[in-house]
Order: sequence, then structure tokens, then C-alpha cells
Amino acid sequence: MTTYPVNLAVRPEVFAFFDDATNTISYIVKDPASDACAVVDSVMDIDYAAGRITFDHADELIRVIKEKQLKLEWIIETHVHADHLSAAPYIQQQLGGRIGVGSKITVVQDTFGKVFNEGTEFQRDGSQFDALFEDGDTYMIGTMQAFSMYTPGHTPACMVHVMGDAAFVGDTLFMPDGGSARADFPGGDAGVLYDSIQKVLSLPDETRLFMCHDYGPNGRDIAWETSVAEEKAHNIHVGSSKTKEDFVKFRSERDAILAMPTLIIPSLQVNMRAGEVPTDADGNPMLKVPVNTL
Ligand SMILES: [Fe+2]
Repeated sequence: MTTYPVNLAVRPEVFAFFDDATNTISYIVKDPASDACAVVDSVMDIDYAAGRITFDHADELIRVIKEKQLKLEWIIETHVHADHLSAAPYIQQQLGGRIGVGSKITVVQDTFGKVFNEGTEFQRDGSQFDALFEDGDTYMIGTMQAFSMYTPGHTPACMVHVMGDAAFVGDTLFMPDGGSARADFPGGDAGVLYDSIQKVLSLPDETRLFMCHDYGPNGRDIAWETSVAEEKAHNIHVGSSKTKEDFVKFRSERDAILAMPTLIIPSLQVNMRAGEVPTDADGNPMLKVPVNTL
């Protein structure tokens, strides 16, 4: 098993931005010892019915980075999201930084390249991104070392990114009362997800965990931060005495009755291109709707 360079002594400042259209939380993570920062899981706004894209959510992240006079070094995607569109290129254009994702993006590009009947001009080698992470890869945000943990199961390209004592878990875990994300997308696997979650829970108990989504189950207020200790003790899907068999059975039964996310069709086409909207033969931004294939 990979040994990860955990360093809980470094405590980055974390600024969270909740997108209520998609229940996504985007983050700015600041190195405590310099002005460097990273963005994790940004959101581009879409009115899908109208085919209209706007940038209010991303503009707020950009405004805060400028106001605090931070230097954006990384724009991280924990995975190819199926429920919201990434604003990574829009943010990069204004503030710089490198866009990074898990190296298994190539598997996702291959799968959905077929679903969307993409031509040969759609590269399936991850070259739309500036960096492709492998399990245990390290990178710097100013003076702060960060590393990626390969955590497949929800999708084949999922990575958890750990920056000091803060881990950005993507869709491996939800808050303890939310449990876990679905594992039925192409390339997903409930058993693999369970193993990935155990990997996250093997981080030190006091590691801060930051969610990518929260739906405020049972009427509670939206929340996004918990800890390894809290998840181990209380997560309703994987905490305390829940076995892998329990999890796989529960997850498979639940996933079988879940509807597709509202924005899955535009999200995949944009996010597998690192946040670029595809174009038609004349260069106009254009999205497809494959019929009866998803
Ligand atoms: Fe996801």
C-alpha cells in the first residue's frame, strides 16, 4: 500500500463556497506560510433549459482570491463531476494556475467519448489538463505540500487531495448523516468505493475532511466539514460496525432506484474536456443529447 506524506502540522485556511443550484461546495485553500492558494472543484453556472452559461459562482471565487491578494497555483478537480460543470478554464484565464485531475481521466474520456460519439479530434489522453495525478503524487501550493490519493469507486478517476491537515474528499464520502455517493455510473463499483473510503478513513483521526456535496438530510442546515474520527464513528453507510458486504448490498439497492443527475449530459461533455464547452464544426459552443444511451 502507498505511504502518504501526511503532515497535520500544516493547517491551511479553507474558504468554502456553496452552490445552491447543484449542492456543490467549491474551495479556496490557502498555504498558511505564503500567499499561494489552490481552488478545488469550481462550478460554472448553467441554465440548461435555455442553453445559457454564466459565471456568478466562479466570479465570487475570483473576487475573493483577488481581494486577499492570493496567487492561484492549482485548480484541482477531484473527479469528472456528473452533476455540475467545472469553471476551471474560466478561472485559469483570469488568475493562472494549473488544472489537475486523476490520471484515470483517460478511462472516463474513453467511455464517454463513445457515449457522446466524439470524433478523433477529442483526445482521450488527458491532454486537456495541465497535470494528471497518480496515487501518492505530491505537489506544492507555495510552501505547503499536497498529495493525491487514488480513490475510485464513484468514478474510475476519483482522487482525494490532501493539503496539510485538510482532505478534499470529492464524492467518496458525504457528511456522516449523508453517507456516501452513488457507485453506479459507468466504471463505478460499490466494493471498490468501500475500499477507497477505508483508505480515506486510514488518515489520522483529526484530519479535517471537506465534502464536495451536501444535501442537508432530514432538514439540517447545509454543512461541509467533518473529520476522520467523526466519519468513522457516525457515517451511516460506512461508520462503526458496517461491513463491506452491508455497504455493497445497500449501495447497489439504493443506486438502482436513483434518477440520473439533472445536469449529467452537459456536465460530462464539459468536464471530460477540463471544463471547456465543446464546439461544432464551425467552432460554435454546442452540447449534444445522446438518446437512450446513458
Ligand atoms: Fe461526482
